[in-house]
Amino acid sequence: MAMATSQSQSKIAGMIGNAPVMQDVYALTQRAAQSSATVLLTGETGTGKELIARAVHELSPRASGPFIRVNCGALSESLLESELFGHVKGAFTNAFENRTGRFEAAHGGTVFLDEINSVSYKLQVKLLRVLQEHEFERVGDTKSIEVDCRIVAATNRDLLDEIDEDRFREDLYYRLNVLPIYLPPLRDRPEDVPLLVDFFIATYAAKNGKPTPQPTAEAISFLQRYAWPGNVRELQNYVERAIVLTDGDTLDADAFPPHVRGLAPVRIGRAKTGGAEALCRELVALGLSEAGDAANDLHERVVSLVEKELISQVLSTCQGVQTKAATRLGINRNTLHKKISDYHLDAEVR
Ligand SMILES: Nc1ncnc2c1ncn2[C@@H]1O[C@H](COP(=O)(O)OP(=O)(O)OP(=O)(O)O)[C@@H](O)[C@H]1O
Ligand SMILES: [Mg+2]
Repeated sequence: MAMATSQSQSKIAGMIGNAPVMQDVYALTQRAAQSSATVLLTGETGTGKELIARAVHELSPRASGPFIRVNCGALSESLLESELFGHVKGAFTNAFENRTGRFEAAHGGTVFLDEINSVSYKLQVKLLRVLQEHEFERVGDTKSIEVDCRIVAATNRDLLDEIDEDRFREDLYYRLNVLPIYLPPLRDRPEDVPLLVDFFIATYAAKNGKPTPQPTAEAISFLQRYAWPGNVRELQNYVERAIVLTDGDTLDADAFPPHVRGLAPVRIGRAKTGGAEALCRELVALGLSEAGDAANDLHERVVSLVEKELISQVLSTCQGVQTKAATRLGINRNTLHKKISDYHLDAEVR
């Protein structure tokens, strides 16, 4: 007999989705919560890193202690230093009073260092000491303070790339990466899309005092094929928008923006994270949104997108002189000529 269970309930509060990759995330989260080891959350923007950070705290023996989030990307180096470690009166011009830092405030609980990749090299050294020795000094003080707090950190940049670029200390990385948890992008778990849609429809219908509409099969099918560069946050925003803008007992595909339905190109260049990773994500989204139903040529599509843009830009820098552009690109002049014609770039060659 069928059990009256809700398919959309995970064991982690607020986390919806049953895809096997998410089951792994939930299991890891539960295991991590039982230890006091440092957790490093990775994954694209909007994949649920903050929800998992809170869950690690709430499922841990420290749940009755404080959970303190610090967005390391939002503060300048000196403000972040004083925010994290506190300062003593007179430590710098505006230090009129002693101030307790977030590490001290989190004693017995958890500190969530969000956007850890933005921490300066100098502060990384100080963080390393907190992780290794559980102690630090307030800014302007010589007295060491000992703290007992679990650290959870999150990054939506690849820290190994940051290490290669000399922006992140390798020793700190290994201290942080004791228990890594990777949040997979939504496009890798399309089976979770209907559950998330139902969850957000119910949430926003209730919030707006509206009856709960049913999404049509066509709407779900589009949403499952879209590449979601902004992941669950993006889905959440579109469902909220759809609920606010439509009435009735069904939610049709046209309640969602045209690019989600594959009718308009995804704009390149919006990603919050920047860099090659973000660009690649957007190109994949663009390649998918332009692809037909049964398309299985993503590699070719994305490579063509890049190649066309590259050739067009180099041609324009070389004022359309093909021999010059071919030399710049390091390709044969005949090859360039053929590509110009394949990509219909002829009009751009003046
Ligand atoms: N599996 C999920 N179930 C329900 N809601 C989710 C899920 N994953 C993410 N969300 C929601 O999506 C939004 C973004 O999640 P969150 O802030 O945790 O992302 P993030 O990984 O920290 O992103 P960023 O790197 O941009 O900070 C939040 O409103 C969150 O509640
Ligand atoms: Mg976040």
